[in-house]
Amino acid sequence: MNSNKYNEKLSHCTKAIIEEQLDFLNLKNAINDLKLLFEEVSEIDLHHPSAETHVFLKTGKAIGSKWAGMCVDDFMRTKRFVTGLYKAVKDTLQKNKNQPVHILYAGTGPFATLVMPLTTIFKPSELQFTLLEVNPKSIESLENTIKSFNAESYVKNIFQTDASTFNVPLPNSVDIVVIECMQHALVREPQVAITYNLVSQLNENVILIPEQISLHIALIDSEKKNNYLLNSKSTEIKLDFYTNIKPVFVLDKKTINNNSENIFPKIEVVLPKK
Ligand SMILES: C[S@@+](CC[C@H](N)C(=O)[O-])C[C@H]1O[C@@H](n2cnc3c(N)ncnc32)[C@H](O)[C@@H]1O
Repeated sequence: MNSNKYNEKLSHCTKAIIEEQLDFLNLKNAINDLKLLFEEVSEIDLHHPSAETHVFLKTGKAIGSKWAGMCVDDFMRTKRFVTGLYKAVKDTLQKNKNQPVHILYAGTGPFATLVMPLTTIFKPSELQFTLLEVNPKSIESLENTIKSFNAESYVKNIFQTDASTFNVPLPNSVDIVVIECMQHALVREPQVAITYNLVSQLNENVILIPEQISLHIALIDSEKKNNYLLNSKSTEIKLDFYTNIKPVFVLDKKTINNNSENIFPKIEVVLPKK
């Protein structure tokens, strides 16, 4: 593992992010530090108009590098993805003894936010990345980020490509695929198209992160929801302000394997009178 001053700071943030015991303040500070660190090492110019330029694709919008970088701020999201990846790598390493775990990451943004922290825990002989990003400005910053963290030896390949049509080289070598292209829920970014394209090429045992995305019609108790949103000091997450009625859309390996034609079937939902 590398240890320049940037790696040390990254390691510090990573420890706080994957900490089992949830401490909101500690986590929020670590995420703020991580964002400042990423902005420094990537040399991203947040004031240049090109950082705000989106790339429009047939399957949706790839957001500008400034906005993609800002996703790190969603601290619970960042924690869940990084911790999920950390656990998935640890489990896979146990199974693949003597072989590095290969992560395919679609939509890296300018910092490869979700995998870069793992370079402070695993060695290049344990972990390898293939990185996909369509926005050329993000690729520029991504390359600087990798260089500053001396993380070149973790990177098999960087492709500037549309991940919704990309042909994966050596698909059986991929152990984990992580896709986070859903800035505007599933409406404007191509999370669904990318997941269908990549998962259908990969080995059936591949670990998909997120494992499942589901959209539900739900009934919400607004009072409880306001209490939940205001109670940011709570150490446990109590999502008891809604009741799911019916899933209207599910994205996981099973639905992809069963559903190659009609991704969005018509669904009728009847709400209980009560
Ligand atoms: C919501 S941002 C997330 C950035 C980072 N992965 C994170 O989680 O913080 C999504 C990123 O995916 C990229 N993207 C969107 N659609 C893409 C596509 N079809 N192919 C490759 N990259 C894509 C965008 O350019 C953007 O950088």
